[in-house]
Amino acid sequence: MTKRLSSLLLQLLLLSITAESSSNRIRHVKPPIRNGEPGTKPYRYETQYFHQTLDHFSFTDLPGFEQRYLVGGLQRWAPGGGRPIFFYCGNEGDIEWFAANSGFVWESAPLFGALVVFAEHRYYGKSMPYGSKEGAYANAKSLSYLTTEQALADYATLLTDLKRNLSAEDSPVILFGGSYGGMLAAWMRLKYPHIAVGALASSAPILQFENIVPPETFYDIVSNDFRRESVSCFNTIKESWDVLESRGQTVNGLLSLSRDFNLCRNLNNSEDLADWLSSAYSYLAMVDYPYPSEFLMPLPANPIKEVCKKIDGLDEGSSVLDRVFAGVSVYYNYTGSVDCFDLEDDPHGMSGWDWQACTEMVMPMSSSQDNSMFPTYDYDYSAYREQCIQDYGVKPRPRWVTTEFGGHDVRTTLKKFGSNIIFSNGLLDPWSGGSVLQNVSESIIALVTELGAHHIDLRASTKDDPDWLIEQRETEIQIIKQWIDEYHQERVASSSMSGAAMM
Ligand SMILES: *[C@@H]1O[C@H](CO)[C@@H](O)[C@H](O)[C@H]1NC(C)=O
Ligand SMILES: *[C@@H]1O[C@H](CO)[C@@H](O)[C@H](O)[C@H]1NC(C)=O
Ligand SMILES: *[C@@H]1O[C@H](CO)[C@@H](O)[C@H](O)[C@H]1NC(C)=O
Ligand SMILES: *[C@@H]1O[C@H](CO)[C@@H](O)[C@H](O)[C@H]1NC(C)=O
Repeated sequence: MTKRLSSLLLQLLLLSITAESSSNRIRHVKPPIRNGEPGTKPYRYETQYFHQTLDHFSFTDLPGFEQRYLVGGLQRWAPGGGRPIFFYCGNEGDIEWFAANSGFVWESAPLFGALVVFAEHRYYGKSMPYGSKEGAYANAKSLSYLTTEQALADYATLLTDLKRNLSAEDSPVILFGGSYGGMLAAWMRLKYPHIAVGALASSAPILQFENIVPPETFYDIVSNDFRRESVSCFNTIKESWDVLESRGQTVNGLLSLSRDFNLCRNLNNSEDLADWLSSAYSYLAMVDYPYPSEFLMPLPANPIKEVCKKIDGLDEGSSVLDRVFAGVSVYYNYTGSVDCFDLEDDPHGMSGWDWQACTEMVMPMSSSQDNSMFPTYDYDYSAYREQCIQDYGVKPRPRWVTTEFGGHDVRTTLKKFGSNIIFSNGLLDPWSGGSVLQNVSESIIALVTELGAHHIDLRASTKDDPDWLIEQRETEIQIIKQWIDEYHQERVASSSMSGAAMM
Protein backbone atom coordinates (compact mmCIF):
# COMPACT_ATOMS: atom_id res chain seq x y z
CA MET A 1 0.00 0.00 0.00
CA THR A 2 2.57 2.57 1.07
CA LYS A 3 4.70 1.35 -1.77
CA ARG A 4 2.01 2.08 -4.30
CA LEU A 5 1.47 5.43 -2.69
CA SER A 6 5.04 6.55 -2.85
CA SER A 7 5.00 5.57 -6.47
CA LEU A 8 2.07 7.90 -6.97
CA LEU A 9 3.91 10.67 -5.22
CA LEU A 10 6.69 10.06 -7.64
CA GLN A 11 4.33 10.23 -10.55
CA LEU A 12 3.45 13.72 -9.46
CA LEU A 13 7.01 14.67 -10.15
CA LEU A 14 6.20 14.10 -13.77
CA LEU A 15 4.86 17.56 -13.92
CA SER A 16 7.81 18.64 -15.97
CA ILE A 17 10.51 16.48 -14.56
CA THR A 18 13.39 18.39 -13.14
CA ALA A 19 16.93 18.00 -14.32
CA GLU A 20 17.64 16.95 -10.82
CA SER A 21 15.03 14.28 -10.46
CA SER A 22 15.57 12.87 -13.89
CA SER A 23 19.29 12.59 -13.41
CA ASN A 24 18.45 11.01 -10.11
CA ARG A 25 16.09 8.59 -11.70
CA ILE A 26 18.24 7.84 -14.68
CA ARG A 27 21.66 8.30 -13.30
CA HIS A 28 23.18 5.75 -15.64
CA VAL A 29 22.76 7.87 -18.75
CA LYS A 30 25.48 10.45 -19.06
CA PRO A 31 24.78 13.22 -19.56
CA PRO A 32 21.06 12.84 -18.91
CA ILE A 33 20.10 16.21 -20.29
CA ARG A 34 22.64 17.44 -22.72
CA ASN A 35 21.13 20.79 -23.49
CA GLY A 36 21.24 21.79 -19.86
CA GLU A 37 24.89 20.97 -19.37
CA PRO A 38 27.12 23.98 -18.98
CA GLY A 39 29.14 24.72 -22.09
CA THR A 40 26.53 23.46 -24.51
CA LYS A 41 23.82 26.03 -23.90
CA PRO A 42 22.50 27.15 -27.23
CA TYR A 43 21.32 30.63 -26.21
CA ARG A 44 23.37 33.54 -24.98
CA TYR A 45 22.58 35.14 -21.69
CA GLU A 46 24.14 36.67 -18.64
CA THR A 47 23.63 35.05 -15.27
CA GLN A 48 22.63 37.45 -12.50
CA TYR A 49 21.62 37.15 -8.87
CA PHE A 50 19.02 39.19 -7.05
CA HIS A 51 18.84 39.41 -3.27
CA GLN A 52 15.41 38.05 -2.40
CA THR A 53 13.18 38.26 0.62
CA LEU A 54 12.64 34.81 2.09
CA ASP A 55 9.15 35.50 3.40
CA HIS A 56 7.20 38.08 1.44
CA PHE A 57 4.21 37.70 3.71
CA SER A 58 5.63 38.50 7.11
CA PHE A 59 7.95 41.11 8.52
CA THR A 60 10.02 38.65 10.48
CA ASP A 61 13.69 39.43 10.14
CA LEU A 62 14.76 36.35 8.19
CA PRO A 63 17.91 36.05 6.12
CA GLY A 64 17.32 36.57 2.40
CA PHE A 65 18.70 34.45 -0.42
CA GLU A 66 20.20 34.95 -3.85
CA GLN A 67 17.79 34.24 -6.68
CA ARG A 68 19.39 33.38 -9.98
CA TYR A 69 18.06 34.82 -13.20
CA LEU A 70 19.28 34.77 -16.78
CA VAL A 71 19.10 37.81 -19.04
CA GLY A 72 19.40 37.67 -22.80
CA GLY A 73 19.63 40.46 -25.34
CA LEU A 74 20.62 43.24 -22.93
CA GLN A 75 23.20 44.71 -25.33
CA ARG A 76 20.83 45.29 -28.19
CA TRP A 77 17.90 46.24 -25.99
CA ALA A 78 16.55 49.79 -26.02
CA PRO A 79 14.53 50.23 -22.84
CA GLY A 80 13.35 53.76 -23.63
CA GLY A 81 11.05 52.70 -26.42
CA GLY A 82 8.77 50.65 -24.21
CA ARG A 83 10.13 47.44 -25.69
CA PRO A 84 8.69 44.36 -24.03
CA ILE A 85 10.26 42.03 -21.53
CA PHE A 86 9.69 38.32 -22.10
CA PHE A 87 9.77 36.72 -18.69
CA TYR A 88 9.87 32.95 -18.20
CA CYS A 89 8.46 31.82 -14.84
CA GLY A 90 10.92 29.16 -13.73
CA ASN A 91 9.59 25.72 -12.82
CA GLU A 92 10.70 23.11 -10.35
CA GLY A 93 14.24 22.69 -11.65
CA ASP A 94 17.48 24.28 -12.75
CA ILE A 95 16.60 27.36 -14.80
CA GLU A 96 19.35 26.75 -17.34
CA TRP A 97 17.60 23.56 -18.35
CA PHE A 98 14.32 25.38 -19.00
CA ALA A 99 16.15 28.16 -20.85
CA ALA A 100 17.76 25.57 -23.08
CA ASN A 101 14.42 23.89 -23.77
CA SER A 102 12.25 26.96 -24.36
CA GLY A 103 13.57 28.02 -27.74
CA PHE A 104 10.29 29.68 -28.68
CA VAL A 105 10.92 32.46 -26.15
CA TRP A 106 14.39 33.12 -27.57
CA GLU A 107 13.28 32.87 -31.18
CA SER A 108 10.27 35.15 -30.85
CA ALA A 109 11.91 37.84 -28.66
CA PRO A 110 13.84 39.46 -31.55
CA LEU A 111 10.58 39.91 -33.48
CA PHE A 112 9.50 42.28 -30.70
CA GLY A 113 12.91 43.64 -29.76
CA ALA A 114 12.20 42.05 -26.37
CA LEU A 115 14.54 41.51 -23.47
CA VAL A 116 14.52 37.87 -22.31
CA VAL A 117 14.56 36.96 -18.63
CA PHE A 118 14.45 33.43 -17.22
CA ALA A 119 13.97 33.52 -13.47
CA GLU A 120 14.76 30.53 -11.31
CA HIS A 121 12.18 29.20 -8.87
CA ARG A 122 13.24 29.38 -5.23
CA TYR A 123 14.57 26.11 -3.74
CA TYR A 124 15.71 24.86 -7.15
CA GLY A 125 18.94 25.07 -9.07
CA LYS A 126 21.18 27.71 -7.53
CA SER A 127 18.40 29.70 -5.86
CA MET A 128 18.70 28.13 -2.43
CA PRO A 129 17.66 29.78 0.81
CA TYR A 130 19.73 29.00 3.90
CA GLY A 131 22.94 28.97 1.91
CA SER A 132 22.75 25.49 0.40
CA LYS A 133 20.46 22.73 -0.72
CA GLU A 134 21.13 20.86 2.52
CA GLY A 135 20.14 23.91 4.55
CA ALA A 136 17.08 24.66 2.44
CA TYR A 137 15.84 21.08 2.49
CA ALA A 138 16.77 20.36 6.10
CA ASN A 139 13.26 20.04 7.50
CA ALA A 140 9.64 21.15 7.27
CA LYS A 141 10.53 24.48 8.85
CA SER A 142 13.26 25.37 6.38
CA LEU A 143 11.09 24.15 3.50
CA SER A 144 8.05 26.12 4.54
CA TYR A 145 8.95 29.05 2.26
CA LEU A 146 8.77 26.79 -0.77
CA THR A 147 5.32 27.80 -1.99
CA THR A 148 3.86 29.08 -5.25
CA GLU A 149 2.77 32.32 -3.57
CA GLN A 150 6.32 33.05 -2.48
CA ALA A 151 7.65 32.14 -5.92
CA LEU A 152 5.19 34.48 -7.64
CA ALA A 153 6.09 37.24 -5.20
CA ASP A 154 9.76 36.63 -6.07
CA TYR A 155 8.98 37.11 -9.75
CA ALA A 156 6.96 40.25 -9.05
CA THR A 157 9.67 41.88 -6.92
CA LEU A 158 12.41 40.81 -9.30
CA LEU A 159 10.59 42.32 -12.28
CA THR A 160 9.80 45.55 -10.48
CA ASP A 161 13.39 46.01 -9.37
CA LEU A 162 14.84 45.05 -12.73
CA LYS A 163 12.62 47.51 -14.57
CA ARG A 164 13.63 50.28 -12.21
CA ASN A 165 17.31 49.47 -12.63
CA LEU A 166 16.96 49.52 -16.40
CA SER A 167 14.73 52.60 -16.40
CA ALA A 168 12.25 50.41 -18.19
CA GLU A 169 9.10 51.10 -16.19
CA ASP A 170 7.29 51.59 -19.51
CA SER A 171 8.07 48.13 -20.79
CA PRO A 172 5.21 45.68 -20.96
CA VAL A 173 5.98 42.23 -19.54
CA ILE A 174 4.85 39.03 -21.24
CA LEU A 175 4.96 35.92 -19.08
CA PHE A 176 5.86 32.50 -20.39
CA GLY A 177 5.85 29.12 -18.76
CA GLY A 178 5.38 25.45 -19.44
CA SER A 179 3.84 22.82 -17.17
CA TYR A 180 4.15 24.02 -13.55
CA GLY A 181 5.85 27.12 -14.99
CA GLY A 182 2.75 27.62 -17.15
CA MET A 183 0.55 27.42 -14.07
CA LEU A 184 2.74 30.08 -12.50
CA ALA A 185 2.51 32.27 -15.61
CA ALA A 186 -1.30 32.07 -15.68
CA TRP A 187 -1.64 32.64 -11.94
CA MET A 188 0.80 35.51 -12.04
CA ARG A 189 -1.20 37.25 -14.73
CA LEU A 190 -4.28 36.90 -12.50
CA LYS A 191 -2.55 38.00 -9.29
CA TYR A 192 -0.30 40.71 -10.67
CA PRO A 193 -2.10 42.23 -13.68
CA HIS A 194 -0.27 45.52 -13.08
CA ILE A 195 3.09 43.77 -13.51
CA ALA A 196 2.50 41.65 -16.60
CA VAL A 197 0.19 42.37 -19.53
CA GLY A 198 -0.27 38.80 -20.67
CA ALA A 199 0.77 35.17 -20.23
CA LEU A 200 1.42 32.21 -22.47
CA ALA A 201 0.67 29.23 -20.25
CA SER A 202 1.69 26.11 -22.09
CA SER A 203 0.54 22.69 -20.83
CA ALA A 204 -0.53 24.22 -17.54
CA PRO A 205 -2.82 21.87 -15.57
CA ILE A 206 -4.39 24.53 -13.35
CA LEU A 207 -7.50 22.35 -12.97
CA GLN A 208 -5.77 19.17 -11.80
CA PHE A 209 -6.93 19.83 -8.23
CA GLU A 210 -9.67 18.53 -5.94
CA ASN A 211 -12.46 17.05 -8.06
CA ILE A 212 -12.37 19.59 -10.87
CA VAL A 213 -11.33 16.98 -13.41
CA PRO A 214 -11.75 13.23 -12.87
CA PRO A 215 -8.72 11.70 -11.13
CA GLU A 216 -8.38 9.11 -13.92
CA THR A 217 -7.66 11.80 -16.50
CA PHE A 218 -3.87 11.63 -16.50
CA TYR A 219 -3.42 7.88 -16.80
CA ASP A 220 -6.31 7.56 -19.24
CA ILE A 221 -4.57 9.96 -21.62
CA VAL A 222 -1.25 8.13 -21.34
CA SER A 223 -3.07 4.88 -22.02
CA ASN A 224 -4.92 6.31 -25.01
CA ASP A 225 -1.65 7.49 -26.49
CA PHE A 226 -0.51 3.87 -26.53
CA ARG A 227 -3.83 2.44 -27.66
CA ARG A 228 -4.02 4.81 -30.62
CA GLU A 229 -0.68 3.46 -31.84
CA SER A 230 -1.55 -0.17 -31.27
CA VAL A 231 -4.22 -2.02 -29.34
CA SER A 232 -2.01 -5.08 -28.90
CA CYS A 233 0.76 -2.87 -27.49
CA PHE A 234 -1.72 -1.42 -24.98
CA ASN A 235 -2.91 -4.93 -24.09
CA THR A 236 0.59 -6.30 -23.64
CA ILE A 237 1.46 -3.50 -21.21
CA LYS A 238 -1.81 -3.97 -19.37
CA GLU A 239 -1.13 -7.70 -19.00
CA SER A 240 2.44 -7.21 -17.89
CA TRP A 241 1.73 -6.01 -14.33
CA ASP A 242 0.23 -9.30 -13.17
CA VAL A 243 3.03 -11.25 -14.78
CA LEU A 244 5.57 -9.04 -13.05
CA GLU A 245 3.85 -9.37 -9.72
CA SER A 246 3.59 -13.13 -9.82
CA ARG A 247 7.21 -13.52 -10.90
CA GLY A 248 8.19 -11.22 -8.08
CA GLN A 249 6.69 -13.54 -5.45
CA THR A 250 9.83 -15.63 -5.06
CA VAL A 251 13.49 -14.84 -4.54
CA ASN A 252 14.39 -16.72 -7.68
CA GLY A 253 11.73 -14.89 -9.61
CA LEU A 254 13.15 -11.56 -8.48
CA LEU A 255 16.62 -12.69 -9.47
CA SER A 256 15.49 -13.66 -12.93
CA LEU A 257 13.60 -10.38 -13.32
CA SER A 258 16.72 -8.47 -12.35
CA ARG A 259 18.70 -10.42 -14.91
CA ASP A 260 16.14 -10.17 -17.71
CA PHE A 261 15.82 -6.41 -17.28
CA ASN A 262 19.60 -5.90 -17.08
CA LEU A 263 19.36 -4.20 -13.72
CA CYS A 264 22.51 -3.01 -11.99
CA ARG A 265 21.30 -4.30 -8.63
CA ASN A 266 19.05 -7.17 -7.71
CA LEU A 267 15.43 -6.36 -6.98
CA ASN A 268 13.94 -6.71 -3.53
CA ASN A 269 10.40 -6.46 -4.84
CA SER A 270 8.73 -6.22 -8.21
CA GLU A 271 7.03 -2.90 -7.44
CA ASP A 272 10.23 -0.94 -7.93
CA LEU A 273 10.40 -2.37 -11.41
CA ALA A 274 6.72 -1.65 -12.03
CA ASP A 275 7.26 1.97 -10.97
CA TRP A 276 10.22 2.28 -13.27
CA LEU A 277 8.20 0.95 -16.18
CA SER A 278 5.15 3.10 -15.53
CA SER A 279 7.29 6.21 -15.22
CA ALA A 280 8.72 5.50 -18.65
CA TYR A 281 5.25 5.24 -20.18
CA SER A 282 4.10 8.49 -18.60
CA TYR A 283 7.25 10.34 -19.63
CA LEU A 284 6.88 8.96 -23.14
CA ALA A 285 3.37 10.35 -23.38
CA MET A 286 4.66 13.75 -22.34
CA VAL A 287 7.49 13.83 -24.87
CA ASP A 288 5.73 12.11 -27.74
CA TYR A 289 7.08 14.71 -30.15
CA PRO A 290 6.96 14.28 -33.93
CA TYR A 291 10.72 14.76 -34.27
CA PRO A 292 13.74 13.33 -32.45
CA SER A 293 14.33 15.10 -29.13
CA GLU A 294 16.44 15.03 -26.01
CA PHE A 295 14.27 16.85 -23.51
CA LEU A 296 14.32 14.04 -20.97
CA MET A 297 16.16 11.33 -22.82
CA PRO A 298 17.54 10.96 -26.32
CA LEU A 299 14.51 9.70 -28.24
CA PRO A 300 13.40 9.08 -31.80
CA ALA A 301 10.51 10.93 -33.44
CA ASN A 302 7.09 9.65 -32.29
CA PRO A 303 8.66 7.57 -29.52
CA ILE A 304 5.44 5.80 -28.49
CA LYS A 305 5.10 4.46 -32.01
CA GLU A 306 8.67 3.14 -31.74
CA VAL A 307 8.03 1.57 -28.34
CA CYS A 308 4.95 -0.19 -29.67
CA LYS A 309 6.82 -1.36 -32.76
CA LYS A 310 9.26 -3.12 -30.43
CA ILE A 311 6.56 -4.52 -28.19
CA ASP A 312 4.53 -5.84 -31.11
CA GLY A 313 7.49 -6.77 -33.27
CA LEU A 314 9.12 -9.58 -31.29
CA ASP A 315 8.74 -13.16 -32.49
CA GLU A 316 5.47 -14.83 -31.82
CA GLY A 317 6.71 -16.99 -28.96
CA SER A 318 8.09 -14.01 -27.01
CA SER A 319 6.86 -13.48 -23.48
CA VAL A 320 5.00 -10.41 -22.26
CA LEU A 321 8.02 -9.36 -20.23
CA ASP A 322 10.41 -9.73 -23.17
CA ARG A 323 8.14 -7.44 -25.11
CA VAL A 324 7.87 -4.88 -22.35
CA PHE A 325 11.64 -4.90 -21.91
CA ALA A 326 12.19 -4.32 -25.61
CA GLY A 327 9.69 -1.47 -25.56
CA VAL A 328 10.98 0.32 -22.52
CA SER A 329 14.54 0.07 -23.81
CA VAL A 330 13.55 2.60 -26.46
CA TYR A 331 13.03 5.05 -23.62
CA TYR A 332 15.88 4.18 -21.28
CA ASN A 333 18.48 3.00 -23.78
CA TYR A 334 17.82 4.53 -27.16
CA THR A 335 21.47 5.33 -27.74
CA GLY A 336 22.42 1.77 -26.81
CA SER A 337 25.08 3.07 -24.45
CA VAL A 338 23.59 1.96 -21.12
CA ASP A 339 25.38 -0.99 -19.47
CA CYS A 340 22.76 -1.72 -16.85
CA PHE A 341 19.63 -0.03 -15.55
CA ASP A 342 19.70 1.59 -12.13
CA LEU A 343 16.23 1.92 -10.64
CA GLU A 344 17.43 3.66 -7.51
CA ASP A 345 15.70 6.95 -7.13
CA ASP A 346 15.26 7.58 -3.44
CA PRO A 347 11.54 8.30 -3.23
CA HIS A 348 11.93 9.73 0.25
CA GLY A 349 14.76 12.01 -0.71
CA MET A 350 13.74 15.55 -0.17
CA SER A 351 13.30 16.67 -3.69
CA GLY A 352 11.37 19.88 -4.06
CA TRP A 353 8.35 18.72 -5.99
CA ASP A 354 7.63 16.01 -3.43
CA TRP A 355 7.40 18.73 -0.82
CA GLN A 356 5.17 20.87 -3.02
CA ALA A 357 2.97 17.83 -3.71
CA CYS A 358 2.70 17.27 0.03
CA THR A 359 1.65 20.85 0.78
CA GLU A 360 -0.17 22.77 -1.98
CA MET A 361 0.13 20.76 -5.16
CA VAL A 362 -2.20 17.95 -4.21
CA MET A 363 -3.33 16.45 -7.51
CA PRO A 364 -5.62 13.46 -7.10
CA MET A 365 -4.74 10.61 -9.46
CA SER A 366 -6.36 7.26 -10.06
CA SER A 367 -5.93 4.55 -12.59
CA SER A 368 -9.19 3.11 -13.85
CA GLN A 369 -9.74 -0.55 -14.44
CA ASP A 370 -11.15 -0.23 -17.95
CA ASN A 371 -9.47 2.62 -19.76
CA SER A 372 -6.05 2.55 -18.20
CA MET A 373 -3.19 0.23 -19.07
CA PHE A 374 -1.67 0.87 -15.62
CA PRO A 375 -2.39 -1.16 -12.49
CA THR A 376 -5.80 -0.20 -11.11
CA TYR A 377 -5.54 2.34 -8.32
CA ASP A 378 -8.15 4.44 -6.52
CA TYR A 379 -7.00 7.76 -5.18
CA ASP A 380 -6.90 7.61 -1.40
CA TYR A 381 -6.38 11.00 0.16
CA SER A 382 -5.99 9.84 3.73
CA ALA A 383 -3.21 7.44 2.79
CA TYR A 384 -1.61 10.24 0.80
CA ARG A 385 -1.74 12.52 3.79
CA GLU A 386 -0.26 9.87 6.08
CA GLN A 387 2.64 9.45 3.69
CA CYS A 388 3.30 13.19 3.71
CA ILE A 389 3.25 13.30 7.48
CA GLN A 390 5.64 10.39 7.55
CA ASP A 391 8.00 11.77 4.90
CA TYR A 392 8.03 15.45 5.80
CA GLY A 393 6.09 15.95 8.98
CA VAL A 394 3.64 18.10 7.06
CA LYS A 395 -0.09 17.93 6.43
CA PRO A 396 -1.23 18.76 2.89
CA ARG A 397 -3.82 21.48 2.25
CA PRO A 398 -5.62 20.05 -0.76
CA ARG A 399 -8.07 22.96 -1.01
CA TRP A 400 -5.61 25.77 -0.75
CA VAL A 401 -4.74 26.12 -4.44
CA THR A 402 -8.34 26.54 -5.50
CA THR A 403 -8.92 28.95 -2.63
CA GLU A 404 -5.88 31.00 -3.56
CA PHE A 405 -6.13 30.90 -7.35
CA GLY A 406 -9.59 29.57 -8.17
CA GLY A 407 -10.38 26.59 -10.34
CA HIS A 408 -13.99 25.65 -9.69
CA ASP A 409 -16.16 27.12 -12.42
CA VAL A 410 -13.01 28.63 -13.81
CA ARG A 411 -14.67 29.85 -17.00
CA THR A 412 -17.02 32.22 -15.22
CA THR A 413 -14.29 33.68 -13.09
CA LEU A 414 -11.76 34.02 -15.86
CA LYS A 415 -14.30 35.57 -18.17
CA LYS A 416 -15.26 38.18 -15.59
CA PHE A 417 -11.94 38.91 -13.97
CA GLY A 418 -9.20 37.76 -16.28
CA SER A 419 -7.74 38.70 -19.63
CA ASN A 420 -4.76 38.11 -21.90
CA ILE A 421 -3.90 34.50 -21.23
CA ILE A 422 -3.18 31.81 -23.80
CA PHE A 423 -3.65 28.27 -22.58
CA SER A 424 -1.90 26.09 -25.12
CA ASN A 425 -2.14 22.32 -25.00
CA GLY A 426 -1.44 19.26 -27.06
CA LEU A 427 -3.95 16.49 -26.54
CA LEU A 428 -1.31 13.74 -26.46
CA ASP A 429 0.05 15.31 -23.29
CA PRO A 430 -1.39 13.63 -20.19
CA TRP A 431 -1.41 17.01 -18.43
CA SER A 432 -3.73 18.50 -21.06
CA GLY A 433 -6.75 16.97 -19.32
CA GLY A 434 -6.24 19.29 -16.35
CA SER A 435 -5.86 22.45 -18.38
CA VAL A 436 -8.17 24.96 -20.05
CA LEU A 437 -9.16 23.55 -23.44
CA GLN A 438 -11.89 25.96 -24.51
CA ASN A 439 -11.88 29.63 -25.35
CA VAL A 440 -13.10 31.59 -22.37
CA SER A 441 -13.34 35.13 -23.74
CA GLU A 442 -11.90 37.32 -26.47
CA SER A 443 -8.57 37.45 -24.73
CA ILE A 444 -8.47 34.18 -22.79
CA ILE A 445 -7.68 31.83 -25.58
CA ALA A 446 -7.25 28.07 -25.70
CA LEU A 447 -4.96 26.82 -28.46
CA VAL A 448 -5.37 23.08 -28.72
CA THR A 449 -3.49 20.78 -31.04
CA GLU A 450 -4.58 17.21 -31.48
CA LEU A 451 -1.09 15.85 -32.04
CA GLY A 452 0.87 18.06 -29.66
CA ALA A 453 2.65 16.77 -26.55
CA HIS A 454 3.96 18.50 -23.41
CA HIS A 455 4.61 22.22 -24.10
CA ILE A 456 5.87 21.48 -27.58
CA ASP A 457 5.04 25.04 -28.66
CA LEU A 458 7.66 26.40 -26.26
CA ARG A 459 10.40 24.33 -27.81
CA ALA A 460 12.77 25.66 -30.45
CA SER A 461 11.61 25.37 -34.03
CA THR A 462 13.05 22.48 -36.02
CA LYS A 463 13.11 21.67 -39.71
CA ASP A 464 10.71 18.81 -38.98
CA ASP A 465 7.98 20.95 -37.41
CA PRO A 466 4.56 19.94 -38.71
CA ASP A 467 2.28 22.64 -40.12
CA TRP A 468 -0.04 22.64 -37.14
CA LEU A 469 2.86 23.53 -34.86
CA ILE A 470 4.10 26.31 -37.11
CA GLU A 471 0.57 27.71 -37.22
CA GLN A 472 0.14 27.43 -33.47
CA ARG A 473 3.30 29.43 -32.85
CA GLU A 474 2.28 32.03 -35.43
CA THR A 475 -1.06 32.46 -33.71
CA GLU A 476 0.69 32.88 -30.37
CA ILE A 477 2.93 35.57 -31.81
CA GLN A 478 -0.08 37.37 -33.28
CA ILE A 479 -1.91 37.32 -29.98
CA ILE A 480 1.11 38.54 -28.04
CA LYS A 481 1.57 41.33 -30.57
CA GLN A 482 -2.01 42.34 -30.01
CA TRP A 483 -1.50 42.52 -26.23
CA ILE A 484 1.54 44.71 -26.66
CA ASP A 485 -0.15 46.98 -29.22
CA GLU A 486 -3.13 47.42 -26.93
CA TYR A 487 -0.87 48.22 -24.03
CA HIS A 488 0.82 50.99 -26.00
CA GLN A 489 -2.46 52.34 -27.37
CA GLU A 490 -3.92 52.53 -23.90
CA ARG A 491 -0.86 54.33 -22.62
CA VAL A 492 -1.04 56.90 -25.40
CA ALA A 493 -4.73 57.34 -24.74
CA SER A 494 -4.33 57.73 -21.00
CA SER A 495 -1.36 60.11 -21.25
CA SER A 496 -3.20 62.41 -23.67
CA MET A 497 -6.19 62.30 -21.33
CA SER A 498 -4.14 63.29 -18.31
CA GLY A 499 -2.57 65.99 -20.46
CA ALA A 500 -6.01 67.32 -21.24
CA ALA A 501 -7.05 67.21 -17.62
CA MET A 502 -4.10 69.33 -16.62
CA MET A 503 -4.96 72.18 -18.95
C1 LIG B 1 19.27 46.64 -9.19
O1 LIG B 1 20.43 47.34 -8.82
C2 LIG B 1 20.84 47.17 -7.47
C3 LIG B 1 22.00 48.12 -7.22
O2 LIG B 1 23.04 47.88 -8.13
C4 LIG B 1 21.22 45.70 -7.29
O3 LIG B 1 21.60 45.48 -5.94
C5 LIG B 1 20.03 44.83 -7.61
O4 LIG B 1 20.39 43.47 -7.54
C6 LIG B 1 19.53 45.14 -9.02
N1 LIG B 1 18.29 44.41 -9.26
C7 LIG B 1 18.22 43.38 -10.09
C8 LIG B 1 16.87 42.76 -10.29
O5 LIG B 1 19.18 42.94 -10.67
C1 LIG C 1 17.60 -4.65 -1.26
O1 LIG C 1 17.67 -4.75 0.14
C2 LIG C 1 18.99 -4.67 0.64
C3 LIG C 1 18.93 -4.99 2.12
O2 LIG C 1 17.83 -4.40 2.72
C4 LIG C 1 19.55 -3.29 0.34
O3 LIG C 1 20.86 -3.16 0.84
C5 LIG C 1 19.57 -3.09 -1.15
O4 LIG C 1 19.99 -1.78 -1.45
C6 LIG C 1 18.19 -3.31 -1.72
N1 LIG C 1 18.29 -3.31 -3.15
C7 LIG C 1 17.53 -2.54 -3.92
C8 LIG C 1 17.75 -2.64 -5.40
O5 LIG C 1 16.69 -1.77 -3.48
C1 LIG D 1 21.50 -1.04 -24.37
O1 LIG D 1 21.55 -1.28 -25.74
C2 LIG D 1 22.74 -1.96 -26.17
C3 LIG D 1 22.70 -2.04 -27.69
O2 LIG D 1 21.54 -2.66 -28.10
C4 LIG D 1 22.83 -3.31 -25.52
O3 LIG D 1 24.01 -3.95 -25.89
C5 LIG D 1 22.78 -3.11 -24.00
O4 LIG D 1 22.77 -4.36 -23.35
C6 LIG D 1 21.56 -2.33 -23.61
N1 LIG D 1 21.60 -2.04 -22.18
C7 LIG D 1 20.71 -2.53 -21.33
C8 LIG D 1 20.87 -2.12 -19.90
O5 LIG D 1 19.82 -3.26 -21.64
C1 LIG E 1 -10.00 30.03 -29.72
O1 LIG E 1 -9.99 31.16 -30.56
C2 LIG E 1 -8.89 31.25 -31.44
C3 LIG E 1 -9.01 32.52 -32.27
O2 LIG E 1 -9.25 33.61 -31.49
C4 LIG E 1 -8.83 30.07 -32.36
O3 LIG E 1 -7.66 30.14 -33.14
C5 LIG E 1 -8.81 28.79 -31.53
O4 LIG E 1 -8.87 27.68 -32.37
C6 LIG E 1 -9.97 28.78 -30.56
N1 LIG E 1 -9.79 27.63 -29.66
C7 LIG E 1 -10.66 26.65 -29.52
C8 LIG E 1 -10.29 25.56 -28.59
O5 LIG E 1 -11.71 26.65 -30.10
